[in-house]
Amino acid sequence: MSGAEGPPLLAIDAVTKRFGGVVALNGVSFQLEANKVVGLIGPNGSGKTTLLNVINGVVSSDEGDVRLGERSIVGRRPSDLAANGLSRTFQTARVFNTLTVVQNLFVPLLHQQTLERSKATARANELLTFVGLERHAGHTASELSGGQQRLLEFARALVTHPKLILMDEPFAGVHPEIKKVLIRCIRETVQKEGASFLIVSHEVPDLVNMSDFMVCLVEGRVAASGLPSAVVHDEKVIEGYLGRG
Ligand SMILES: Nc1ncnc2c1ncn2[C@@H]1O[C@H](COP(=O)(O)OP(=O)(O)OP(=O)(O)O)[C@@H](O)[C@H]1O
Ligand SMILES: [Mg+2]
Repeated sequence: MSGAEGPPLLAIDAVTKRFGGVVALNGVSFQLEANKVVGLIGPNGSGKTTLLNVINGVVSSDEGDVRLGERSIVGRRPSDLAANGLSRTFQTARVFNTLTVVQNLFVPLLHQQTLERSKATARANELLTFVGLERHAGHTASELSGGQQRLLEFARALVTHPKLILMDEPFAGVHPEIKKVLIRCIRETVQKEGASFLIVSHEVPDLVNMSDFMVCLVEGRVAASGLPSAVVHDEKVIEGYLGRG
């Protein structure tokens, strides 16, 4: 996936991360282009969340480089990266429980230097309608179901018009109806806003359907990468992940 017109949106280059004796990531490299969905799969403990943490600056890598466009983003803080178009959702949805649903959407905008209230309100309302939470705008976030909190977290990740959204297991424990909404919203965000997604999920058939490119980590290494249909039939992926009982 190397773009002839310029650098890829995100380049992960020989990233290694150790936690004591555990090598969570071992020379991981791949690239992600603009306007694409990339699926990241692999068994429990294979390094998927660690990789997202390295990309958005929550965890620092021991070796290797991560570039957003032309610039290395190693050592940059998550808030700084958010201002540069990188956004994130978590393995367990994180919302501000005591704030209202609409107030949750204002939080990422508080870091912006020029905040126009009318524009912020319009964007928040647009996104609440987009994910189907408009009726809940004035409710406190703690009143939402777990699935609705995932939708809220997703909407909040989009407020700043990010170029790349990292999502860690967005479908885990989510009602099938909410999963459908999330998948539709991810697709439409790619089409309408030109954003890209890097999505970690154990729900492999869904991820195969929605991804343009897939990467499988096994024990911190890239076991296979390429077209999703090829990756799920790769011997190393079957042996290291899909074929495990
Ligand atoms: N903060 C940490 N301190 C120590 N070890 C860690 C830390 N974070 C992750 N690890 C270890 O790094 C390895 C990779 O963990 P990671 O959470 O990235 O896996 P994962 O692929 O996201 O797994 P899962 O599918 O279960 O979410 C595991 O062995 C884990 O125990
Ligand atoms: Mg994880």
